Amino acid sequence: MNRLAGKVALVTGAGRGIGAAIARAFVAEGAAVVLAELDLDTAQATAKDIAAAYANARVLAVKTDVTQSASVQSAVSEAERTFGPVDVLVNNAGINVFADPLTMTDDDWRRCFAVDLDGVWNGCRAVLPGMVERRAGSIVNIASTHAFQIIPGCFPYPVAKHGVIGLTRALGIEYAPKNVRVNAIAPGYIETQLTHDWWNAQPDPDAARRATLELPPMKRIGKPEEVAMTAVFLASDEAPFINASCITIDGGRTALHHE
Ligand SMILES: NC(=O)c1ccc[n+]([C@@H]2O[C@H](COP(=O)([O-])OP(=O)(O)OC[C@H]3O[C@@H](n4cnc5c(N)ncnc54)[C@H](O)[C@@H]3O)[C@@H](O)[C@H]2O)c1
Repeated sequence: MNRLAGKVALVTGAGRGIGAAIARAFVAEGAAVVLAELDLDTAQATAKDIAAAYANARVLAVKTDVTQSASVQSAVSEAERTFGPVDVLVNNAGINVFADPLTMTDDDWRRCFAVDLDGVWNGCRAVLPGMVERRAGSIVNIASTHAFQIIPGCFPYPVAKHGVIGLTRALGIEYAPKNVRVNAIAPGYIETQLTHDWWNAQPDPDAARRATLELPPMKRIGKPEEVAMTAVFLASDEAPFINASCITIDGGRTALHHE
């Protein structure tokens, strides 16, 4: 408890799934949290749930489109007006765009990069000037195991997620002398609506679900709360020398060559 006491955090895509779990865990650890989310209704509902669960919770939902730098900048300004300077940014908002490379449309390519890579950069560039000035800050980018492994048919999502790791490493190095840490988390399969949507898009959703549960050596997939625990750690003062790194949360799946 109180591992993030006194800190102000902004979490993108926090209306549901991994982002919502991170927002909740941050509040539980004493942070004031802005849920910066495209779908304001879900963000408000999540903020209300969190406020009901934690006495004195400081939580605010702000409509934000991470693809638009002005929108992210405005969410950061609102966070600062309401709670004070942003100490922690979690770039979590992301979408799946899975296509065949040669039949994919230009629009698919652009919307994947707009959310999954530009969105992360837009977040970083909105908070970095303040963090650099204060010589303190932690940025956590939610990448994916697609950032270093490829599943056929999932193009161009892994290309954007590889970029998230590159961005994390580059900014981590640029701003290390200013005491700003930039790290990534690479989740494997985590049970969220995104994963359910993918199962439901398969010819046999139940078979797809069962096959997914067989993939990790632990024979289960992850929970959003398990990603949130690592986000708390990276955001906290318990990780002062962890920078430009990526922590994988996949129950060991990417270490497995084959069964
Ligand atoms: N679920 C998984 O198995 C898994 C695995 C690896 C990585 N990830 C990554 O974790 C992150 C969260 O995934 P999730 O499973 O919780 O997804 P989700 O779809 O459940 O939640 C994503 C949230 O982001 C919001 N969002 C989408 N576009 C946005 C935009 N332009 N601006 C602001 N918000 C926007 C959505 O409204 C939604 O609330 C993503 O970056 C995803 O790529 C997920």
